[in-house]
Amino acid sequence: MTSRDLLHRVWREHVAQHMRVLLVALVLMTIEGGMLGVLSYMVRPMFDRIFVAGDTSAIAGIAITVFVLFVARAAAGFGQRYLVVLTGLRVTTGIQKDLAGHLLSLDTRFFQINPPGGLIERVRGDAQALQQTASAALMNLGRDTIGLVSLLAVVLWIDWVWALLVFAGIPVVVLPIVLLHRRIRATTAAARRSSADISTRLDEIFHGMLAIKLNRLEDHEHGRFDTTVDQFLRAERRSQAGRAGLPAMIDLLAAIGFLGVLIVGGHEIAAGDKTVGEFMSFFTAMVLLFGPLRRLSNVSGHIQAAMASLDRLYSLFDSTPEIVSPPGVAAAPLPPGDIRVEDVHFGYDGTPVLRGLSLTAVQGRVTALVGASGAGKSTVFNLLTRLIEPQQGRVTIGGTGIETVNLQSLREHFAMVSQDAALFDESIRQNIRLGRLDADDAAVEAAAEEAKVMEFARDLPGGLDSPAGPRGANLSGGQRQRVAIARAILRDAPVLLLDEPTSALDARSEALIQEALERLSAGRTTLVIAHRFATIRDADLILVLDKGKLVDQGRHDELLARGGLYAQLYEMQFAKN
Ligand SMILES: Nc1ncnc2c1ncn2[C@@H]1O[C@H](COP(=O)(O)OP(=O)(O)OP(=O)(O)O)[C@@H](O)[C@H]1O
Ligand SMILES: [Mg+2]
Repeated sequence: MTSRDLLHRVWREHVAQHMRVLLVALVLMTIEGGMLGVLSYMVRPMFDRIFVAGDTSAIAGIAITVFVLFVARAAAGFGQRYLVVLTGLRVTTGIQKDLAGHLLSLDTRFFQINPPGGLIERVRGDAQALQQTASAALMNLGRDTIGLVSLLAVVLWIDWVWALLVFAGIPVVVLPIVLLHRRIRATTAAARRSSADISTRLDEIFHGMLAIKLNRLEDHEHGRFDTTVDQFLRAERRSQAGRAGLPAMIDLLAAIGFLGVLIVGGHEIAAGDKTVGEFMSFFTAMVLLFGPLRRLSNVSGHIQAAMASLDRLYSLFDSTPEIVSPPGVAAAPLPPGDIRVEDVHFGYDGTPVLRGLSLTAVQGRVTALVGASGAGKSTVFNLLTRLIEPQQGRVTIGGTGIETVNLQSLREHFAMVSQDAALFDESIRQNIRLGRLDADDAAVEAAAEEAKVMEFARDLPGGLDSPAGPRGANLSGGQRQRVAIARAILRDAPVLLLDEPTSALDARSEALIQEALERLSAGRTTLVIAHRFATIRDADLILVLDKGKLVDQGRHDELLARGGLYAQLYEMQFAKN
């Protein structure tokens, strides 16, 4: 996006609503900036009437005026700075909130492609960079532009020839300034990217700590991290060098201007054509003028940097979910019915995972999915819940294509215990309640009892209110699984999807939970994936998957008798045990 498009967009979507506060800030900036011109103009009567003419009666008036001007400038300056920073904060937090909402709407695929660390860096780091640079830019832009204009008026008023001389150096510095701008925008974007890489690395290190320690990868990871930080350092150094170069250009301009004015003005005063007061007033205005000019040149650097961050933020807004609710379809519970997968083809980036898969899960019955690791079993669950979209074929529930029903209602139709139980850094109780947010404590406790969560929660100091830890780290694998099962029990949805729900449990707990799951799946359409045949032998129907295709189906004994893939898988497990 070009700077113009970006500015237009940020104004329309996030800044325009703070218009009134910004207008007040603008008025205060005008006062703060305008005072500069007035103050420099006061130098003229000060010199000509007090210092040169010796008129002491003028002292009190001029002194009080100057004092009042300074106080007014201070008050207006405080007000505008506060309002601008406040608005900057409101704008960036607004962008952050919108962005989080937007990211939550995106497909799971998006998060498989974009690492979490990089996304965190965008939502936090880029928003913060934007806030700092934009506030600084805005604050200086208003006040210094007004200051500049008022001072220019003074220098032009006193002598326009001198005024022209001040800016004699402009042709020399224009080209370098334009080049510096380009450089800042490009290098800042690179620096922000490197910064995101740092976050990604840290995220991976902290999440992978166990694997790092056990494989003694400390030095390896440290080395990778150092490389990433060095890349950031290089990019950031280039960006900062560009920004530091802008004020230097203005100083060069000032040097040329001073030279001209001193030479010409000095001769005119010596010849008596100009008063000392005029020269001092002009000189004050000129000195004051280069301050705002320097800052303004910096502002353009700030703006380029802000643009780089804005660009990264808005590009996130531009990625849209592909799996969405069909427009105009209201949320309504799905009628019960058989679940059918009809000749579905699906793959990731050209690698096929499901190749013409067709299967039926009969309403109210237990259907088991078996197959080697990587056969596509979990992928089937993702297909049913529309976490992924088939590239060909379709899925129906009770004859209705799932792509035609409201997405919320579709997901509410399922309770899923997935292969890796996803827990949040909240209490165990709250983690169970995520299955149904409006469940009361009694219901949560009943589910916890049923899924044998109480068995271990009773021994914890806080009971059900003990924290589960980041991503459930305070609990064992089997305990996490039981919390996930309690969540599914509480959810009480028409269809149950169980992806190896008891894989992490010991034989006794597994038997206990198996009972609970059987009670839960009685009369409920259930799909269960399991490697252990103890779990699946009683299923109403067993579907055998191989390389994304259905290769056999039937009941346990039938399948064994046929001696196909099922019998092979069974024998291998049997031999192992
Ligand atoms: N996000 C992904 N990106 C690319 N490929 C993927 C992704 N998720 C799964 N796959 C691939 O899809 C195939 C099927 O995966 P799936 O998780 O469905 O297997 P599975 O039958 O559940 O295996 P397991 O019994 O080990 O859980 C695998 O070959 C896997 O590599
Ligand atoms: Mg799986």
